[in-house]
Amino acid sequence: MRTMSTRFGLALAGIAFLALIAGVAVAIATDSGPVAVAEGDTAAPAPVAGIGNIMNAVNHEQHGLFGMIKTFCDANGGDKAAWKLARHRAQIVAEAGNILMAKSPPRGADDAAGLKKWKQHCADFREAGKGLAKALAFRKADKAKKAIGIVAAQCEACHKDHRSN
Ligand code: HEC
Repeated sequence: MRTMSTRFGLALAGIAFLALIAGVAVAIATDSGPVAVAEGDTAAPAPVAGIGNIMNAVNHEQHGLFGMIKTFCDANGGDKAAWKLARHRAQIVAEAGNILMAKSPPRGADDAAGLKKWKQHCADFREAGKGLAKALAFRKADKAKKAIGIVAAQCEACHKDHRSN
């Protein structure tokens, strides 16, 4: 009798374990499964990245794409391919201005005038990023550093009006 119930207990535990695995597998599949895109869908996709993600991954003075460009120019640049990569990065820094435009900052954009100010900062930042991409095409560290300074001034201008921390 005892062996029977032990076997029964083991079988139950086995079933419970398999059910758990199946549950986890279903959860993973639902989380990262394919999403159907409807034909002719013109709706803007839901944003994924927030302001903090953009600041850390794109703008950060050390770890972001902007920081990578800065470090590269501070070391007087590199070979042709490396300058080209820096330009690709600068284009994304500029694009971040466009992405930021659709967001609401934690401070200073509660009314129409504040929102206009925010959008102007985003646009100025984008233009400074475009200027940086253009400057990098000359493959001259001094020229690029001037453009980096113009971008950095836009970081500060926007933070002064809209950053809370
Ligand atoms: C258009 C406005 C704007 C521009 C331009 C801008 N920032 Fe920011 N930044 C913000 C806002 C708003 C926050 C605060 C985000 C929050 O608290 O949710 C922020 C936060 C940050 C943070 C802190 C992120 C964190 O995890 O707390 C860093 C670092 C940062 N910015 C760096 C930069 C740098 C460097 C640049 C320029 C290359 C720049 N930012 C340009 C608006 C801007």
